[in-house]
Amino acid sequence: MLEFQRVCFGYESESATLKDLSFTINEGEFVALLGENGAGKSTLCRLANGLLKPSSGRVLAFGNDTGQVKTSLLARDIGFLFQNPDRQICQSSVRDEILFGLEIALDDAAARQARCDEMLQLFSLSGERDPFGMSRGERQQIALASVLARAPKLLILDEPTTGLDYRECMTIMGIIAQLHARGTTILMISHDMEIVADFAGRALVISEGRLIGDGPVRQIMRDEGLLGRASLLPAQIPALGARLGGPYAEAFSVEEMLSLILEQKGAAR
Ligand SMILES: Nc1ncnc2c1ncn2[C@@H]1O[C@H](COP(=O)(O)OP(=O)(O)O)[C@@H](O)[C@H]1O
Ligand SMILES: [Mg+2]
Repeated sequence: MLEFQRVCFGYESESATLKDLSFTINEGEFVALLGENGAGKSTLCRLANGLLKPSSGRVLAFGNDTGQVKTSLLARDIGFLFQNPDRQICQSSVRDEILFGLEIALDDAAARQARCDEMLQLFSLSGERDPFGMSRGERQQIALASVLARAPKLLILDEPTTGLDYRECMTIMGIIAQLHARGTTILMISHDMEIVADFAGRALVISEGRLIGDGPVRQIMRDEGLLGRASLLPAQIPALGARLGGPYAEAFSVEEMLSLILEQKGAAR
């Protein structure tokens, strides 16, 4: 559903920000996009939703070449959550904000109201509040609610949990996981390797504008050399497993580590 074919991009003609990127994301995947600050992750996302066009190569979204079709057409199927929710929010009540996003998606006013109510309920938000009086975490939820109201097939999230506390983070990730379980394809930038380990199935690693890794999260998380090249550390359990070595090197989650420890204890008895 999303394909990058030898994509290069530069903000200024003389310097390339993204260099020769090729990958395909299939329907139903949950892909994490990893890389150091300035690696080009946000730029890649803006190419994926057609806000930016490649300098060379092609980006295909749902079979459409993003260089050939209108960005508004792509916006019907692709939801994009900006890194900063305040770049997205422009209305003075939560309800108006969600309805505003629905105007391009649904012609029928009653259907827009119904979808809006569904979102307010899903996020436990009060429609009458003014987004700018709310916390960063709440504003992130409003921005996500207005993206999700349009029921995108592909959801692109630029650091959706940065700046949120643990509870806000889990609320957002719970909703994203639920959507993914119902079939929405996810491309998520995150620096939080614990979240990546818990939620994503596949990871793309970029460094200095080049794709240096692409594979199952379990495999990428064990490749400390690769992660190091992108200034990343593995999640704690895989890191601990790698240090302990032996059977523990296979552990990926707390549950897996625990069952390996119990197994070893049982064998020692
Ligand atoms: N609007 C812009 N104009 C010029 N350069 C930009 C712009 N946005 C980002 N860049 C540059 O492109 C590179 C990649 O940025 P970005 O995609 O934001 O990285 P990341 O999201 O991985 O931190 C950086 O060197 C950044 O300074
Ligand atoms: Mg970024």
